[in-house]
Amino acid sequence: MSSEKPTVERRSYRKIIIGGVVAAVIALALIFGLVFGLRHHKSAGPDTESFAEPWNNASQFLLSKNFTITKTPTTRYYEWNISQQTIAPDGLERPMLLVNGMFPGPLVEANTGDQIVVKVTNSMVNGTTIHWHGMYQNGTNWMDGTMGVTQCAIPPGQSFTYNYTVANQWGTYWWHAHAASQYIDGIVGPLIIHSPDEPYLDQYDEDIIMMVSDYYHTDSGALVAWYLSADSQGTEPVPDNGLINGLNTFNCSGDANALFPTGFKCSDGAPLASFDFKAGLTYRVRIINSGSFADFQFSIDDHMLTVIEADGIDMQPVAVQRLPIHVAQRYSVLVHANQTVGNYYVRATMNTNCFNTPNPALNPNVQGVIHYEGAPVTQDFNSTDWTTSSWSAICIDLALDMLHPYAAQAAPTPDVSYEINFAFETINQAGINLAYVNNTSWSPLMTDATLFQAQRGVTLFDASQLIVTLNSTNVVELILNNYDEGSHPFHFHGHTFSVLGWGGGSYIPGKTVLELDNPLRRDTITIPSFGWTVVRFVNDNPGLWTLHCHIDWHMEAGLLMQFESLPEQIKKFQIPSELTAMCGAK
Ligand code: C2O
Repeated sequence: MSSEKPTVERRSYRKIIIGGVVAAVIALALIFGLVFGLRHHKSAGPDTESFAEPWNNASQFLLSKNFTITKTPTTRYYEWNISQQTIAPDGLERPMLLVNGMFPGPLVEANTGDQIVVKVTNSMVNGTTIHWHGMYQNGTNWMDGTMGVTQCAIPPGQSFTYNYTVANQWGTYWWHAHAASQYIDGIVGPLIIHSPDEPYLDQYDEDIIMMVSDYYHTDSGALVAWYLSADSQGTEPVPDNGLINGLNTFNCSGDANALFPTGFKCSDGAPLASFDFKAGLTYRVRIINSGSFADFQFSIDDHMLTVIEADGIDMQPVAVQRLPIHVAQRYSVLVHANQTVGNYYVRATMNTNCFNTPNPALNPNVQGVIHYEGAPVTQDFNSTDWTTSSWSAICIDLALDMLHPYAAQAAPTPDVSYEINFAFETINQAGINLAYVNNTSWSPLMTDATLFQAQRGVTLFDASQLIVTLNSTNVVELILNNYDEGSHPFHFHGHTFSVLGWGGGSYIPGKTVLELDNPLRRDTITIPSFGWTVVRFVNDNPGLWTLHCHIDWHMEAGLLMQFESLPEQIKKFQIPSELTAMCGAK
């Protein structure tokens, strides 16, 4: 692969056009308001007694103590039906895409060694796939669920059964649709893998999940169409709200100012996510950023967070007040219920500095409630944010030297090194802004998958596919250079990589100091604005694996490349014929 830097027109012109965009959007908002007539139906006020919503299974986020953590393997069966349904996560009704009518979708919970079998029936009008974010799938690349890469979409009205065994990993993961921008519309859920080998098992009493995400009131398809048109000038749609475990409240009277209004019913005072604490206990809190754009700063008032896991890798404990978490990343933190009995806010605050334009409807301070047993049941209380730790105006991960894996491993020595350069570029006079990785802007194959092509022996892939072939088992180093003003959370399917360093400006081989002793390992890393990141991985997992920015808008714009690992083994794959059959089924 060439290591030439792409010549790119950077997005600095954006600042000039944003005024125009905002004006146009406000005009649009007024028109929408007139046409649909925003109906505000006010509810009685904050619901303090019951947090139950029929589509929200709050209890699944409190992991049950009845789950047996064991080395004896079993099979976990699930049956899912995905359909469009209208719900109101934050009080504003909108059609969403839901698994079994639930938002967030059903918990998948298993032990290392278990087989996971999920029959997915697609009752939507568009094809879909489900990706198991962070699962290695070593030997089952075709179960990775990436449309156009490891499978064709499950056509409307049809079913496909994902079936894979979890090996050599545990921790906090998630699953989501990996076809078009569907996961933004609701097809997401937690995926938790346990093991008796987890080092911190005896250090907490309760195990809970907090999925934090940005949230849009408009169907993602419409937003993608706008984003990939000249009208956006490359400005990503800015979220209207954020959610914790699918819940938040929204100020309905502010809605007329929303960037992307809808004509649906809106109720003020929708409930926040609430978690019961017992004084004296220790909680493992698994934080998952299941959003599509926003980087969050996560904290709990007056409670320190001791980080013990990042993306499925146990970490040496490190205590923080605030934790930055970018799209698709996960952390486990230990929280000691050691404060005065009372109510405390969970805060997931979006870093709006990393948006290119404001959304007047957005309250970036997303909240949940920690309710100590014995405290008054109310959502109306005062607890205050940390004042002793500020947070960065730029979107970056926790400092690299704070995160060291519990199971220490030296950085592997690379056999081969690739430079991966990415940037956004305006492709023509129409002003459509696309993303390029080493000069290729990805778009998914619609009636084939690169895995199937590789199995058929294809070596010359479509021009829309940047594929690096890795022939032998070896250690690969990637120098990822970000020629964009935004930071980008890059995820690698099927692997964890060792993160040797990141920073602003340029990486100078031989000069820039890298962490070699026991570097962070994880599956999603934020590459800083106009910066670099150096990662290494062991090429021991045959298949077609994507490396991409997990900001969904950017994937839609083409910010994705693939590795074809061990092609000789790919040719020997026994891929189920139901999978290849779906390519012709459209
Ligand atoms: Cu979370 Cu390509 O995926």
